[in-house]
Amino acid sequence: MSTIRIHDKNFESLFSSTQIQIRVAQIGAQINTDYYGKCPLFIGVLNGAFLFMADLIKNISIECELSFVKVSSYSGTKSTGTVKEMIGLSHDLTGRDVIIVEDIVDTGDTAVYIMNELKSKNPATIRFATILYKPLALKQDFKPDYVGFEIPPDFVVGYGLDYDGLGRNLNDIYRLKA
Ligand code: IMP
Ligand code: MG
Repeated sequence: MSTIRIHDKNFESLFSSTQIQIRVAQIGAQINTDYYGKCPLFIGVLNGAFLFMADLIKNISIECELSFVKVSSYSGTKSTGTVKEMIGLSHDLTGRDVIIVEDIVDTGDTAVYIMNELKSKNPATIRFATILYKPLALKQDFKPDYVGFEIPPDFVVGYGLDYDGLGRNLNDIYRLKA
């Protein structure tokens, strides 16, 4: 098992590129079946979801459209915590079948925020696809519709996910070594 070092921490392989590609192809096939005769709009959440989005879309054989959004977190003027803002949505979602594409669901805060933002734009249907899901880290009442892998609540990098800016380019997914 290969170990890598990023910044000050060691990571060990969790899922190989081959395992990921097989799983993404399965999710793509499921979506082709579920949305047969429709034209879903995939909305990827930058930056983390860019590789999953690219690989997923290559496995979609039905008509589809694609867009990306970015969720910026910034400290509000009040000390109550983080304020989020979604930017970059250029499509009219009215009556569309929307599939959100994310890298990971951790606490679920981001997922719930994006779901609510997009639901308010009157899509016909809305579902959520994520390559990684940490059910034990969840703080929200939320369940993604398409999941690549359920993982323990450990920190992971690779395949779009970063540790302090680094690691997004890795083809495998790694977890922080204990
Ligand atoms: P949330 O806690 O579900 O809202 O996750 C928010 C964001 O934190 C995700 O979209 C990721 O960008 C990031 N994140 C959560 N867990 C990890 C991890 O294990 N590695 C890298 N980024 C993570
Ligand atoms: Mg993300």
